[in-house]
Amino acid sequence: MYPMLVHSHSGLRWVVLVLLLAAIFNAGTKMGGKASYTDKDKKLGLFALIFSHIQLVIGIALYFISPKVQTFRFFRMEHLAMMIIAIALITVGYSRAKRKADDAGKFKTTFWFYLIALLAILAGIPWPFMGYGSAWF
Ligand code: HEM
Repeated sequence: MYPMLVHSHSGLRWVVLVLLLAAIFNAGTKMGGKASYTDKDKKLGLFALIFSHIQLVIGIALYFISPKVQTFRFFRMEHLAMMIIAIALITVGYSRAKRKADDAGKFKTTFWFYLIALLAILAGIPWPFMGYGSAWF
């Protein structure tokens, strides 16, 4: 169970990162103009939201069973805090964008909330060179 959860959590980081980048690029290139906010735009933001929530669920399970939580303060504190903040930003950004009246506002809201979330995630990932025994995939 534990190895399966770590592998899923590790691999899914790339899905979250790619979806976030795609949603940010999409919103960033459209927020200045007169592009209308279509179902496709909404779905891109939604997929990033869904996969970040899957990471949250797997992460919570790992938090209780991973020996690394006892060993490294990074997983107990920094990783948890950064990722919770990031996932909250994605969630708030998604629902605020949905409620904005104008299309440019929807793109702008998505762009800023998702961009700051992406930065928090990049800062909170235990990259292999950080010495926590984590892998690239
Ligand atoms: C978008 C959100 C998240 C991303 C991208 C992410 C990414 C990662 C990555 C890449 C690892 C290293 C896996 C490896 O060893 O190869 C990891 C480990 C871990 N994560 Fe997350 N994480 C996220 C959210 C969370 C949350 C919200 C929690 C806790 C509630 C959490 C708890 C953990 C724990 C406990 C480990 C250590 C697992 C182990 O190696 O024993 N993660 N995470």
